[in-house]
Amino acid sequence: SMKQITTIPEIRQVINSLKKQDKKISLVPTMGYFHQGHLELMRYAKKYSDIVVVSIFVNPTQFGPNEDFNSYPRDLKRDLDLAKQVGVDIVFTPNIEDIYLPNHLTYVEVEKLPKVLCGKSRPTHFRGVATIVLKLFNICQPDIAVFGQKDWQQLVIIKQMVKDLNIPVKVIGHPIVREPDGLAMSSRNVYLTKEEREQAPAIYEGLCLVKKLCARGMRESLALKNKLIDYYFRNIPLGSIDYLEIVHPFTLEPLDEIKDKALVAVAMYLGKARLIDNILIEVE
Ligand code: PAJ
Repeated sequence: SMKQITTIPEIRQVINSLKKQDKKISLVPTMGYFHQGHLELMRYAKKYSDIVVVSIFVNPTQFGPNEDFNSYPRDLKRDLDLAKQVGVDIVFTPNIEDIYLPNHLTYVEVEKLPKVLCGKSRPTHFRGVATIVLKLFNICQPDIAVFGQKDWQQLVIIKQMVKDLNIPVKVIGHPIVREPDGLAMSSRNVYLTKEEREQAPAIYEGLCLVKKLCARGMRESLALKNKLIDYYFRNIPLGSIDYLEIVHPFTLEPLDEIKDKALVAVAMYLGKARLIDNILIEVE
């Protein structure tokens, strides 16, 4: 049966006793309001470990001053039900006051990687993400942690932090989980109006178009980006592009030309939502 744990001392004690029983522990950090994407991460974690811990914590330090921290969707009761159905062992739901003490002064800054893509319009976001993820690693001491490739930059930054700080956690990425029409699942999709929702699948269609054009021999980033801008202009009139980049998937450095591997990453404002998506391209 699933256990909900709220205090740090209690989860430490439970994890310690599981470790004494040689259990392999995985952690899936989340901010809750689960959709199938989250649930797939949990199922995936289950395959690689004996005990799945899911944390639910809407982390204030990763939201900018004008972002949606207060209005971020929350439904703990439903989340607990869903986690239980998936077979999660422990749901960790810490209180803000216990995670950030009034005199909190320490933050994790990964250099360089947070300055591109989402970091350009969210300059303090990844410092908040790296800080909370390291705190959750230290509290839960997982052997494995699972993150979604939808937040590709987040995954790259966490992997860099783990390597640089010798954190004994194996970080695993999970492919993007999509709605039947291709829209990447996101807790923020609930912000979309009916009209916006109807246009949203074109975000992924555009990324697929770039992949197809690349396969047919179009390799210049500028040409590919122009095709994509044009596609979005015609198919998502309600949207406005935050960024649209073709980068190296691991260094996140911009590529002028696609040679072997590339990540096409996009962020778009659509009504109240800011949606991100990406596609990995591999050329033989
Ligand atoms: P959240 O947005 O709740 O996402 C939790 C995890 O689910 C992340 O690893 C994210 O990449 C993954 N995820 C979300 N939508 C997905 C989809 N459609 N397909 C695959 N994976 C998906 O990301 C965060 O929370 C926070 O930044 C967190 C890491 C918990 C730190 O606060």
